Amino acid sequence: MKRIGLIGAMESEVETFCRDFNAVDTDIKGIFKGSFGGKEIYICKSGIGKVNAAIAVQRLVDIFSVDCIINSGVAGGISEDLSKLDIVISKRLTYHDFNPIDILDRNPPYGSMMEADEKMVEKAVLACRTLNKNLEEEGKDTFNSFVGTIVSGDCFVNSAQKAKQLRDDFDALCTEMEGAAVAHSAKVNGIPFVIIRAISDFADEDADASFESFETVAAKRAAFIVKEILSK
Ligand code: ADE
Repeated sequence: MKRIGLIGAMESEVETFCRDFNAVDTDIKGIFKGSFGGKEIYICKSGIGKVNAAIAVQRLVDIFSVDCIINSGVAGGISEDLSKLDIVISKRLTYHDFNPIDILDRNPPYGSMMEADEKMVEKAVLACRTLNKNLEEEGKDTFNSFVGTIVSGDCFVNSAQKAKQLRDDFDALCTEMEGAAVAHSAKVNGIPFVIIRAISDFADEDADASFESFETVAAKRAAFIVKEILSK
């Protein structure tokens, strides 16, 4: 049976999975085991930030032998095309707080830009399409989804100037605090991965208040996409 590793940094980002996949404790603190769509699902509440995310991947790989990793949750929107609760699917990820970032490119084997697994990206795109079709048929509001670059760092971005810099420097759609570390660790382990984020704020001066208001609903929306992927 396929083993899927799901990573969310915060309770809000894993609660849907734990509930809907009937997850139970494992021997490892913060990792829960459930099942869905004929798959074993290992859900890790990693804690916030890059180191926690990297530890989560390594534990899921070493202890639970997962076949692939999905990291889902919330993000600050950077692209001016995004609205709150829109979905961003990772095409590639990099760090915005690794300076100078090209050290990584000049010192192989792991470069600064980490490409997500193409097939998993495609599955996420299809999941968004299917969900939107269903929502439309039910007369409900649909949502936008985008595929592009996500930048991660150990900081909650709450400055329009910093957000602009991330847009200019990386052509990033959104920023968060774990994705690139999940990508990096998954790459090192040769495990396919994708990151799926829903926009909770615009990484500007209103970000703290917006995060507070939208964290739960945005985390649920990202989980909604993941569930659709796993149902197939
Ligand atoms: N996650 C959600 N919003 C964020 C922001 N503005 N900065 C970093 N991580 C986030």
